[in-house]
Amino acid sequence: MSDILHAITSRRATKHFDPSYRIEDITLMSILDAARHAPTAFNIQHCRFLVVQDREQRRRIRAAAWDQPQVEDCAALIVMCADIKAWEKDPARYWKDAPAPVRDGYVKMIHSYYDGREQVQHDEGVRSCGLAAYAIMMAAAAHGLHTCPMDGFDFDEVGRLINLPGDHEIVMFVALGREASSPSPRGGFLPLDAVVHRESFS
Ligand SMILES: Cc1cc2nc3c(=O)[nH]c(=O)nc-3n(C[C@H](O)[C@H](O)[C@H](O)COP(=O)(O)O)c2cc1C
Repeated sequence: MSDILHAITSRRATKHFDPSYRIEDITLMSILDAARHAPTAFNIQHCRFLVVQDREQRRRIRAAAWDQPQVEDCAALIVMCADIKAWEKDPARYWKDAPAPVRDGYVKMIHSYYDGREQVQHDEGVRSCGLAAYAIMMAAAAHGLHTCPMDGFDFDEVGRLINLPGDHEIVMFVALGREASSPSPRGGFLPLDAVVHRESFS
């Protein structure tokens, strides 16, 4: 338990990655395998992990990301993409291991909940990717690696560069690798009593 709390409270957004570090594919896949266990509404699993390691592709993406060096210096850039229409793509597959009546019940609920509700479809995909992004950060920490969550980039341009399908949306990047230097001091946190409210906002 204390390991988990330590991973949460010691995590930092890495601004300087060691460009010479190469991640083994087995490590990368272990991290993404952990991330696909992140929770999703109705178990819809909207998140698609677009892994970018090619040097040229990263150079192009960096140019669309305010020239931020993390994009090129990390060992793998994960573009977190939400399949916004995952809810209607054979939803029975999200419950394939459940008994048939349970599976059928979920398929019905998924349709009645999302059909015609574009905003909810979108928000659900973003929620799923946000949780999966954080799972990547924690799984990376378990491997002694570091991450930087990022949204400082031109979403349309990156979408073009990665051939984003029309019914998918980019949610954010997670740059993954080994830090090259210790992070600068934290910006600071709001006090607990400024962020915790009980029962209702007064
Ligand atoms: C959604 C999101 C987008 C971010 N985008 C960037 C980014 O584009 N570039 C960057 O260097 N850091 C980015 N960050 C990292 C934040 O600057 C960092 O998390 C924040 O300053 C707190 O620092 P810490 O994570 O080290 O505690 C982003 C973080 C989040 C959650």
